[in-house]
Amino acid sequence: MCGIIGYIGNRKAAPLMVEALKRLEYRGYDSAGFCTINNNRTLIEKDVGKINEVENKINLNALNGNVGISHCRWATHGNVTKENAHPHTDCNEKISIVHNGIIENFSQLKEMLIKKGHKFRSSTDTEVVAHLIEEYYKNNIEEATRKALQHLEGSYALGVISVEEPDKLIAARNESPLIIGIGKGENFIASDVPAILKYTDKIIYLENNQMAVLEKNNVSITDINGNKMEKEPVKIDWNSELAEKSGYEHFMLKEIHEQPRAIAETLNGRTENGSINLKEDIVFSDEELLKVSRIIIVACGTSWHAALVGEFMLEELAKIPVEVEYASEFRYRNPIIDEGTLVIAISQSGETADTLAAIREAKRRNAKVLSIVNAKGSSIARESDSVLYTYAGPEIGVASTKAFTSQLVVLYLFTLYASNLRKSLSNEKIKELIEKLRKLPLQMEALLHNDAKIREIANIYLSKQNALFLGRGINFPIALEGALKLKEVSYIHAEGYPAAEMKHGPIALIDKNMPVVFLATKDIYTYKKILGNIQEVKARNGIVIAIVTEGDEEAKKLADYVVPIPKTLYILSSILAAVPLQLLAYYVAVNRGLDPDKPRNLSKSVTVE
Ligand code: AGP
Repeated sequence: MCGIIGYIGNRKAAPLMVEALKRLEYRGYDSAGFCTINNNRTLIEKDVGKINEVENKINLNALNGNVGISHCRWATHGNVTKENAHPHTDCNEKISIVHNGIIENFSQLKEMLIKKGHKFRSSTDTEVVAHLIEEYYKNNIEEATRKALQHLEGSYALGVISVEEPDKLIAARNESPLIIGIGKGENFIASDVPAILKYTDKIIYLENNQMAVLEKNNVSITDINGNKMEKEPVKIDWNSELAEKSGYEHFMLKEIHEQPRAIAETLNGRTENGSINLKEDIVFSDEELLKVSRIIIVACGTSWHAALVGEFMLEELAKIPVEVEYASEFRYRNPIIDEGTLVIAISQSGETADTLAAIREAKRRNAKVLSIVNAKGSSIARESDSVLYTYAGPEIGVASTKAFTSQLVVLYLFTLYASNLRKSLSNEKIKELIEKLRKLPLQMEALLHNDAKIREIANIYLSKQNALFLGRGINFPIALEGALKLKEVSYIHAEGYPAAEMKHGPIALIDKNMPVVFLATKDIYTYKKILGNIQEVKARNGIVIAIVTEGDEEAKKLADYVVPIPKTLYILSSILAAVPLQLLAYYVAVNRGLDPDKPRNLSKSVTVE
């Protein structure tokens, strides 16, 4: 996930882009770069580091010119180096581009372009786009870009400028978000609205496979085949509360959409150069951690569901025995704790009374306590020996969403950290798992931009009073989480079950009024069994909604509705699979005329026992 700002108008582009790009920093902090065109010259300044660090490293004053593009990077292809920072150019530095997304077929394109004599400077996927445009350039940057786009497979938000045509800024989008800001005598491109709201409240949301040509006083939009499209700007009339919700109707929806950012912030600084860096977070020495022979995870509600996913991760990868306990139960049992026991507490608020009491009991019994908390300086954080923070930002909606997926990411980070210490995984395997993890923000962003199917499915629940969510393995906790989300914001009685458990009683509930969500992502373990469970429900006229891996045609034949999620490791798929279930709960609640931010009987933090 990266951030893009582009400008064309009467102002000096560089200082404006620096200021606007800082409001996108959550999208990427590996490196940043700026390009302007002035007096027939392409001027580029870029370096590694956060935007304010780069600002101090480069010669910003040299960047004259009223047209420019800029970028803050979240590395997916190519290490974090100055050469790999955006913008990238063609061979002769006449065409410059910035990109957010992943060009899936970049290797083949790069090979073809090198054979044609193109010289590459970076190891990024993005640079192939600049050389492809160069290949097609015949004094028309719009046409050359359009032709280049025809070859691209994957996701992109692009900004393109050319020294030959300094009066044009080209934008194009497929999957990765890109908006156009319409000003007076100036126009903007940006990865999201807040970055340019200071300059204009007239916004055009580019859609997939669309291009735009921005001039100072004109914006024209076409599809990638060149067909003109009329798109009226949307006026962003956010009052202060809406601005606080970034234009979303409810905090819950805003926070669901903030998850790519929350995960990116939670990962920031912890997965550099193919290794896990938790040294600043974890106070336990390597020797102390190596003595851990058993982990007990205590939590409540959604955080307890995260704990169940963590159990799967830790046992599967770090080979550490794990027990998961409701905090409210743990504190009244007589738990067996010895010097080899590590107690992990998970809590978004860090104030949940039962969880706080549980860690006090654990400490009383001399256990080491590590907490995974979102609220800095909260009681649970303060009373733990060590804290691994999620950096999801404040979570206002009562239903926990971005904190949940951020908790899963932290559990995965800790799992890899422990796996490395205990040599339960090779360095190469850990590097591969980290690379997949770093792609999550981008995959989640793509997932969030097609919720039309979820809205359609939500209509099924309008007249329903009961619902089931079924999963196996690492997806069983996600089934529980989907049921809790639906319960707590729509008041429909929903239950999560291990799919195999249905035949031991619950299948008696199935009839044509029972919508059943299956977590049916592809894996080597239980996928075929899940397909069998789907058939069992269909045979009894149940309504089947299946969360599937993109491209899965088999489940499509069996289910009434399928919601695809991007392909990733089985163990990471649960993080992506949670998102459609959160959206489903949200839209069902809104369809039923309820306020998902303030569900009846609930509070955001349960500070009573
Ligand atoms: C989650 O959607 C609920 N609001 C609730 O179950 C919550 O997860 C639980 O109360 C635990 O809160 P905590 O994570 O702040 O400790």
